[in-house]
Amino acid sequence: MSENQSIKPITVKENNNHLSIGGCDLVELAEKYNTPLYVIDEATLRGISKSYKNAFKEYQNIRMMYACKALCTSAIIKILNEEGFGFDVVSAGEIYTVYKAGVDMKKVLFNGNNKSYREIELALECGVGRFSVDNFYEAGLLNNIASKKGKKADILLRITPGIECHTHDYIKTGQTDSKFGFDLSQIDDIVNLIKNDYKNLNLRGLHAHIGSQIFETQCYYDEIEILVKEIARIKNTHGILLNEMNIGGGLGVKYTEADNPPPVSVLAQAVTSAMHKYAIDIPIIYIEPGRSIISTAGVTLYKVGSSKVVPGGKRYVAVDGGMADNPRPSMYQAKYTAEVANKLNYKETEKVTLAGRYCESGDILIENIELPKLEAGDIICVYNTGAYNYSMASNYNRVEKPAMVLVNNSHSDIIVYRETLDDLISKDDIPDRLKKND
Ligand SMILES: Cc1ncc(COP(=O)(O)O)c(C=O)c1O
Repeated sequence: MSENQSIKPITVKENNNHLSIGGCDLVELAEKYNTPLYVIDEATLRGISKSYKNAFKEYQNIRMMYACKALCTSAIIKILNEEGFGFDVVSAGEIYTVYKAGVDMKKVLFNGNNKSYREIELALECGVGRFSVDNFYEAGLLNNIASKKGKKADILLRITPGIECHTHDYIKTGQTDSKFGFDLSQIDDIVNLIKNDYKNLNLRGLHAHIGSQIFETQCYYDEIEILVKEIARIKNTHGILLNEMNIGGGLGVKYTEADNPPPVSVLAQAVTSAMHKYAIDIPIIYIEPGRSIISTAGVTLYKVGSSKVVPGGKRYVAVDGGMADNPRPSMYQAKYTAEVANKLNYKETEKVTLAGRYCESGDILIENIELPKLEAGDIICVYNTGAYNYSMASNYNRVEKPAMVLVNNSHSDIIVYRETLDDLISKDDIPDRLKKND
C-alpha cells in the first residue's frame, strides 16, 4: 500500500486511549503548542517520496517536481529537496521560499496563468530552470524581460488537452473552457511567434495538468497520447524537436473510507506504458504531485469548546478552528475523517456535527460524524490535512494562523510559529490625520 492510500499517517499509534503520531502523544502536543495545531509526520512524508522514486525508478528521464501550492514552508521544502524532488512554484513567495531553503533553482519550474513582471524578473534572477508559459501575453512579457536582462528563458507551453479528470469524473471534450493554457488550436500561432519573433525564449516542451484528487489513471494515459501526438505534430509542422513533457499532478488521497485512490505504482505503470506505446523518442517527463505527497502526512488538532442541541436533536460541537485554517469543507464540501485524540477506545458514541469557530453558518468541519461523547477540552484529530489547509489558510475574523510542528522519532519541532496578535496588526498603519486627536 502506498502512503496516499491511507487515511492516517503511517506512524499513527494508540497509547492508553491516546493517539500518537511520530512517537508523539497528540494530547501532549496540544498542551505544549496549543491548538489549533498542524502536525506533519516526517516518516509519512519521506515514505511517500520514496514510493514515488521507487515507482518511477525504471524510467530514467523522470523529473519529480513537488507542487508547492499544496504546502510550502521552509522545512517541508528542505525535506523534499533532500528526497530529490524539484519544485513547481506559482508565485514570488514560493520562489523565495524554495530559493532560501537552498534548492538548486535549475530544478524549479514556474507555473501560473498571470505571472507578474516582478515575479518573472525574480524568477530570471534566481535562475529558475523552466517557465511554463500559459498564454500569448505572458510569452511576450517573458521574452521582453529576458531580452532586457540578456537571458534566454527555457520554456514549456501549458496546453489544455481537452481532458478533465477529478476523482472518477472524467470528461474528454474537443474544446476546452479553462483559464489555464493554450487551446490546441492556438499552438501553431504561439510556436510561430517563438520561432520567428521571441528570440529570448527557448521552447523545450509541452505541459498539461488535467485535474486533482484523481482516482483513475486512464486519463493520464489519454493525456500522454495527446501530448506525444502534439509534440510529433510540432516536429512535422515546424521542424522543432521538443524533448520535454510535463503531465502535471493530481493523484488522489484517501480522506474517508469512501475514497479509493490508486497507489503511486499504478500511476507510474500508466505513465510508463503510455510512453512506451506512444513515444518513439522518449522525452524527459515531469510530474508535479502536490496533494499525494503531503496530505496524508498532516493532521490538525483542535480543542472542543461549546456545544448545543437544536430542535430535532442535531448536536453541534464547536472546535477552536475551522474555515480559516481549513477552507476545503466550506469551499467545496470536502469530507474528512476525525478521531478524539484523548478518548480512543471509548465505547459510548454519539453523532455530532463538528462546527468551526468562525462567523459563517457554512463553517462546518465535518457533518454527522460518530465520535465518543464529547466534552469541552477534548482534543479532536482531523486526518489528511497536510495539503491545501495551511497553504489556503486566512486570517478571517482576525484570528492568528496556527503553528505547525514536525514530528519524528518521538521528537517535535516547530516549523511554523503561531501568529501573534501583534503579527495581525504588524502591517496596519493609521494615517497621521487620524492620529492627531490622540
Ligand atoms: C499545474 C499544476 N500542477 C500540479 C498541481 C498539483 O496538483 P495535486 O495537488 O492535485 O497533485 C496543480 C494543482 O492545482 C496544478 O495546477
